[in-house]
Amino acid sequence: MLNPEPLAGRVAIVTGGGAGIGGGVSRLLARAGAVVVLNDIDAGYAEAAAKDIAEAGGRAVTVVGDIREPETVARLRDAALAATPEGRVDVLVNNVGDYRPSSTFLRSTEEDWAASHAINFEHVLRVTHAILPTMIEGGAGSIVNVSTVEALRGIPGCPVYSAYNAAIIAFTKSLAVDVGRKGVRVNCIAPDLAQTLQTPYEAMLRGRDPKLIGSWVPLGRFGEPEDYARVVLFLASDDSAFVTGHLIPVDGGTTAASGWYGKADGRGWTNLPDQA
Ligand SMILES: NC(=O)c1ccc[n+]([C@@H]2O[C@H](COP(=O)([O-])OP(=O)(O)OC[C@H]3O[C@@H](n4cnc5c(N)ncnc54)[C@H](O)[C@@H]3O)[C@@H](O)[C@H]2O)c1
Repeated sequence: MLNPEPLAGRVAIVTGGGAGIGGGVSRLLARAGAVVVLNDIDAGYAEAAAKDIAEAGGRAVTVVGDIREPETVARLRDAALAATPEGRVDVLVNNVGDYRPSSTFLRSTEEDWAASHAINFEHVLRVTHAILPTMIEGGAGSIVNVSTVEALRGIPGCPVYSAYNAAIIAFTKSLAVDVGRKGVRVNCIAPDLAQTLQTPYEAMLRGRDPKLIGSWVPLGRFGEPEDYARVVLFLASDDSAFVTGHLIPVDGGTTAASGWYGKADGRGWTNLPDQA
């Protein structure tokens, strides 16, 4: 029988855990029994997620602050260690990231590169560095990083974002090899087309006919935060006990289709968009 609470008694940290994909992850991990320590830069989103979790019978601790700041990372670690008498951390979900501002590489500045590094990659290193010793001490842990399918394929106008997200994947694999024998697993998801604050339906559709979604996504719809959260839960729980160093695209089939587009009339596919 499937365990309805695979994370019962465990402590899970989620960065950017108030809204979007992170909001879905916090809520689902709490439903799976974890005490969720959720960080968010926005107090309103953090409180809304904590309220939902409490109303569903779960437990959440909020740490409001910018995850790019070392001071926030220190508070997050302290809050997680104080969340239970055992002072344990079982799960870390490094979720924060942003493709904006996007521009061609030639137009981008050194400040843009530093900003993209800070929001997409640097905090993943810093938070992991702060939490890993506790996991190793406990002899167990699961780290789930959130990258993007744009690290797997070329994306126009976002080469720096793409590069730092590819770094997340490389970091995931190498760290998994380093810490496997200490009981810690490290995996990664690569989302595409999530309906979130960063990429709302309206921005993705930009006035186009919603029926065209089937042209871009083999499963025929955009993803909801819970679609990504379910895969994170799998990687966070013992259901994936023998999985480490891997990347799971959560994309409705877009990387499998890569370059193929469903024709607008729904009759077949083309790799020549002018024939769509
Ligand atoms: N939306 C997509 O289609 C998509 C696609 C591929 C990858 N991703 C990746 O998934 C992750 C989540 O994306 P999303 O669309 O849910 O994002 P989002 O912007 O919709 O939500 C992010 C959450 O993190 C919080 N946050 C933002 N900056 C923060 C900071 N500096 N410190 C702490 N909290 C912060 C926000 O307040 C919000 O609650 C990102 O790493 C993103 O790159 C998203």
